[in-house]
Amino acid sequence: MPELVVVQRDDPIAVVLLNRPRQLNALSDELMDELVSELQRLDRDAAIRCIVLGGSERAFAAGADIGELAQSSAIELYYARRVERWDAIRNLWTPLVAAVSGYCLGGGSELAMSCDLIIASETARFGQPETSLGIIPGAGGTQRLTRAVGKAAAMDVILSGRLLSADEALAAGLVARVVAREAWLEEAKRVARDIATKGPVATRLAKEAVNRAFESTLQLGLEYERRALYLAFASEDAKEGLTAFTEKRKPDFRGR
Ligand code: COA
Repeated sequence: MPELVVVQRDDPIAVVLLNRPRQLNALSDELMDELVSELQRLDRDAAIRCIVLGGSERAFAAGADIGELAQSSAIELYYARRVERWDAIRNLWTPLVAAVSGYCLGGGSELAMSCDLIIASETARFGQPETSLGIIPGAGGTQRLTRAVGKAAAMDVILSGRLLSADEALAAGLVARVVAREAWLEEAKRVARDIATKGPVATRLAKEAVNRAFESTLQLGLEYERRALYLAFASEDAKEGLTAFTEKRKPDFRGR
């Protein structure tokens, strides 16, 4: 059996590719289990400072595996604790860059939105087509998409099934950059390498602080940011980064 998730290490980054091409990377239970365990393994590896998550040029992922869903009962889904897997992805410390090319639908779109930022190919198409199957998004689609693009566009996408083009997703704030078709993976790797050069402690704290902006009030978010700044200051990395600048050399961050 071919692996459902392919991991390519290129320290200090790793590339994780979904690998069910015949099903357009539909997120089966088995694929999600493999994905979460690979991501958690890389997250524990101090040599990996940023992870790129991608699919193929044709599809990032075309959603949950509809065949599996069709055969599951509500209680089976409940007992399978599917949502916990998504929490595990959201709780990774290592920054996660989604490289999206082609279809990015349903659970695929929710997976991309669970990453820290999205680099999209000009071919990317984002959608939440669940209501056409008689269900609704269940891994954050109604919440994350609405926070990312606002109510008007989210209602349009979720209720009418309209797909957002890469440029629309960029204009709406869902993706960070749009790149040429052939650059879909390379550009995400380049961004990941840039992220990997920064102080790892600071990067983790910064990512948590940005996430706070979506999860709490402004006052609580500012409070969190201030404390995270003091914590960053207490790191050896901060001493190294500030000293390296004054000594006109590149910092040698250790993640301490
Ligand atoms: N789950 C399981 N299988 C899927 C799938 C999914 N979410 N999405 C695509 N596939 C399978 C198709 O069944 C097909 O398999 P087959 O060759 O054995 O018939 C294969 O992937 C290729 O898909 P196909 O529909 O032939 O490609 P297309 O280019 O004509 O259309 C899509 C592409 C993405 C528009 C279409 O596959 C689609 O609408 N998929 C479902 C999207 C969806 O509703 N996602 C939300 C799930 S909750």
